[in-house]
Amino acid sequence: MAQIRIRNTNETITGVEPIREYLNSVGVLYEHWEGDKLPAALKEKFILSDEEKQQILSVYDEEIRDLASRRGYLTWDIVALSDATPNIEELLKKFEQVHTHTEDEVRAITAGEGYFIIKASEEIGYIDVLVELGDVISVPENIPHFFTLSDKRQIVAVRLFIETEGWIAHPYADPAFVK
Ligand SMILES: [Fe+2]
Repeated sequence: MAQIRIRNTNETITGVEPIREYLNSVGVLYEHWEGDKLPAALKEKFILSDEEKQQILSVYDEEIRDLASRRGYLTWDIVALSDATPNIEELLKKFEQVHTHTEDEVRAITAGEGYFIIKASEEIGYIDVLVELGDVISVPENIPHFFTLSDKRQIVAVRLFIETEGWIAHPYADPAFVK
């Protein structure tokens, strides 16, 4: 289950409802897909064939289509990251730059975990949102953020898009951001 840490105060928030409430209050969508639906063979698998990715999308088809129909997403796919991902260090360096998109960035986590670091507001500053199995998050368009892996260094997520071009990262130089 997700957890939030507010960087400036070190305050943490846990539990589906408190997290939903907090993230919604700063404009970030949070939902939770219930159930442990993946077959055992896919639960702890972070190197996935196209067939296995398709299998995950089928397992979550109902949840994906429900989210897509409410929010206008037209395409979706699976992304898997782990130490086995080619060029993972380079990729993470690229990911760990604060940036924005012209479209929201939505992820539904189906295995593993990772962090979205999001600028909640000028006043609050940045928050670290740990997302794991069942967590669905959408970082709104134009909100500075970045993604990184946790110490476990593995995640599988469904990505949903309105237009794939909307997901291009625009660097956001923020003097208020300290790693
Ligand atoms: Fe992003």
